[in-house]
Amino acid sequence: MLTRRDFVRRASAGVGAAAALLDGWQARVAAADSGTRGSALDVAADEDYWHGIQQAFTLDRTMVNLNNGGVSPSPRVVHEAYKRYLDISNQAPSYYMWQTLEPNIETVRRRLAATFGCDGEELAITRNASEALQAAQLGLTLKPGDEVLTTTQDYPRMLDTWDQRARRDGVVVRKITFPVPPPSQADLASRVLGAITPATKVIHFCHITNLTGQIFPVRDICRAARARGIRTIVDGAHAFAHFPFTLADLECDMYGTSLHKWLLAPVGTGFLYVRKALIADVWPLTPANVKLTDNIRKFEEIGTHPAAAHNAIAEALEFHLAIGAERKAARLRFLKDRWARRFEHHPQARVLTSFDPAQACALGNLSITGADPVKVADQLWTSRRIFVTPIKHEEFQGLRITPNVYTTLDEVDSFADAVEQLIAKGS
Ligand SMILES: Cc1ncc(COP(=O)(O)O)c(C=O)c1O
Repeated sequence: MLTRRDFVRRASAGVGAAAALLDGWQARVAAADSGTRGSALDVAADEDYWHGIQQAFTLDRTMVNLNNGGVSPSPRVVHEAYKRYLDISNQAPSYYMWQTLEPNIETVRRRLAATFGCDGEELAITRNASEALQAAQLGLTLKPGDEVLTTTQDYPRMLDTWDQRARRDGVVVRKITFPVPPPSQADLASRVLGAITPATKVIHFCHITNLTGQIFPVRDICRAARARGIRTIVDGAHAFAHFPFTLADLECDMYGTSLHKWLLAPVGTGFLYVRKALIADVWPLTPANVKLTDNIRKFEEIGTHPAAAHNAIAEALEFHLAIGAERKAARLRFLKDRWARRFEHHPQARVLTSFDPAQACALGNLSITGADPVKVADQLWTSRRIFVTPIKHEEFQGLRITPNVYTTLDEVDSFADAVEQLIAKGS
């Protein structure tokens, strides 16, 4: 697979000819990696470098989009690949889509697996994290009284899925709570592991939560669970391509992620990882031929679907690797810290997200004392065209802010300025 270093080496070789072939952002990435710009932290604050990345997108800059957590725009190269594959398909889908494009899903599988750090035979390409996680949640055999341990801050759809299993199959769902931000990752691990009972069969939790961006100590929890014979399902919807890690850092049994969030792949892309030894034990969401029982591809038996979306993942991976996971995470933290530090000691606001780089990245949550986040989000949109996500959880509330690699400093500052002014006005 083409690594970032290979890409840069290729890009840097024969400077004249290569430079002519590279478009703006690629040339800037190559320059940034040449060593002249320094570490990921140095590059995080290098606006000249990020200007090239910002120009790689076709955005509506008349609004400030600070909800990239839900779903993100793709860079131009990815969107063009996606449209190109759609056009090719449409010439004669039964030939071009099924015979030419669809088999290339195997290339995408191999490249995703290499980046995630698993075997290609353990990775199924899905349409989103929900599909991946529900395959794991509904596919495990559980009997009445078996316990599933999760948290009150897991994703509502995933909690609804367990709730359905409780109603349908009699499994018992237990949820732990934790403060935002928690005192430490060790505190999170001890809350989860301390809630295990002899009936616990599954632990399901987020790698990083969608509510406040809290990163969990995944390996500590999964290792301890495996030692007790408990299966682990990790919800990585927001994690993959957001900050650097590989499977070796997780040691989970199953992992589901979206690729239309932080990888910037087309809408309708995700993957499911299932540890090889477990594949045969997990029923697919959409039934597959018995011959596929221990084949990861059984999770892809979904009927006719566009090949364009999953094939364009390959282009999104290239874009991601060209920036580099470390550099991307450093920039995302830099953007989050830029607004969050302004409210760190504010008397009327509280940042619900940790400032510890091990516990947070791009996603942050700002709670304004006495203010309804829905109303504040509405005011930000109406007065400034700043788009944020109001979060109303039964344990806390705030504004969820998710910049992305294309977000400018001006955009982040305009958010912080507007919130300061709203607080000052008492609205
Ligand atoms: C933590 C978490 N899990 C699962 C999902 C579901 O992702 P998707 O909508 O891509 O299926 C989301 C979506 O935002 C999420 O934040």
